[in-house]
Amino acid sequence: MNFYLLGYPVTHSVSPVMHNAAFMELGLPHRYYMLEVKPEMLAETIYEKIKTGSCGGANVTIPYKIEVIKHLDILMDSARKAGAVNTIEIKDDQLLGHNTDGVGGVRALREKYGKLSDAKIVLLGAGGAARALANELAPMVQELTVLNRSVEKARILSDSLRGNTSYGSLYESSVIKSADILINTTPVGIYPYIDESPIESSFLHPDLFVYDIVYNPLKTKLLKQAESAGARTLGGLWMLVYQGVESFKIWTGIEPRAETMYVAALNALQEILR
Ligand code: ATR
Repeated sequence: MNFYLLGYPVTHSVSPVMHNAAFMELGLPHRYYMLEVKPEMLAETIYEKIKTGSCGGANVTIPYKIEVIKHLDILMDSARKAGAVNTIEIKDDQLLGHNTDGVGGVRALREKYGKLSDAKIVLLGAGGAARALANELAPMVQELTVLNRSVEKARILSDSLRGNTSYGSLYESSVIKSADILINTTPVGIYPYIDESPIESSFLHPDLFVYDIVYNPLKTKLLKQAESAGARTLGGLWMLVYQGVESFKIWTGIEPRAETMYVAALNALQEILR
């Protein structure tokens, strides 16, 4: 069966190699392709390639994560909470919209950090990625603080969450000093702005675990600052891998090996970044 990534443009994605590596390892006769879809072709492509084609499932990326919703039959809880779809499941000829960014991103963190229930977390940013992670994290951790450039957006996100949450300005980040985990969801530090960091290194400390969801570059300025401060770190490629693991499970019912997908994604990314 065929699997697709719908986006525009999608020339630089590592998802095909990641999923194809897992299909191959498990001996599954499937193939994952990138599908660049022009906006005026979205409805037709979804119908012909996904709903009535020999398709096993799909991912959705920029700019269609919200727009795709009107072409689906059922919106699952994860997608409704996130307000966006990144995974389409086909079941009984119906298209189901899921979002695995939050669950995958939190799973990456749990695999590398450990138990999250006692953690005090500071989340930088209040956009789509922050919302996906915060929805999952807030009910399961001790404390979640959202810091954002626009404080009003931090307040709106914080108020919408279940759990012990608060909010503040990105520029008054002293709360990081007493935090266990710092997560960056802003694009600050992404290529080509590789010398930028969302916070000053004086806020970092050895008891902190720093998770940057940016994966290009693999080691952001923030992660370098964290290493210098003696903090443990986690790069965004693991979030990408685990959202893929969760999509793969939805489509096939099988848990793929995350390590296999990580190595494939890393190799592809290094090729792209070269
Ligand atoms: P995504 O879907 O990747 O989360 P988004 O919804 O556009 O993207 O959200 C981007 C987030 O990064 C926002 O929280 C944004 O802050 P504002 O709400 O104040 O705009 C934050 N962000 C983007 N560029 C930033 C910058 N240069 N400095 C600090 N924060 C930035």
